[in-house]
Amino acid sequence: MNDSLNDSVNGGATRAGEMDVDGRTVPVPADPTESLARALRRAGRTGTHIGCANGDCGACTVLIDGEAFKSCIVPAWRAEQRSVRTIQGLAPVDGDLNRVQQAFRSEDGFQCGFCLAGPVMCLQELVDGDPEPSDDAVRSALAGNLCRCTGYQQILRAARAAVSTGPRPTDRAPAGRADVAPG
Ligand code: FES
Ligand code: FES
Repeated sequence: MNDSLNDSVNGGATRAGEMDVDGRTVPVPADPTESLARALRRAGRTGTHIGCANGDCGACTVLIDGEAFKSCIVPAWRAEQRSVRTIQGLAPVDGDLNRVQQAFRSEDGFQCGFCLAGPVMCLQELVDGDPEPSDDAVRSALAGNLCRCTGYQQILRAARAAVSTGPRPTDRAPAGRADVAPG
């Protein structure tokens, strides 16, 4: 996962017309109306799901320069020269899981998994900024995500487990933040 393209993120070397997606340079679509969610899925990041396509469910959540956004309501062009991290880009290496992903797996924090990117990416944003957030902060971070399966208790249990476990030694460092707003 960490190849030379990842250096372009840290060095800010992505060019106009490109965005960095999980360490790989991806062209920004020419269509200004295409959502970031659709562009990511066309680029193979199909772990970013599209449910409502209206900013309500959270299944499409990604981090843009470290900040969580519902990518179905962000035009892809807003991510130009930005670092986009999807649920597929959290693991330090292919086949591994990071702190948050491992907790959701261990605590059965999902059933069908369709919504999973929402709570995982929102919790990732939270622990990147505060490794030991309060329970209220955890609940607040997860509030914008809808799940049809779990009844939410398993999600909360997984989130608390991720917080109490702390970072795994191999977890990737968070990306920097930038001012990006849905267009
Ligand atoms: S698909 Fe983006 S919020 Fe539901
Ligand atoms: S696990 Fe099925 S929608 Fe959340």
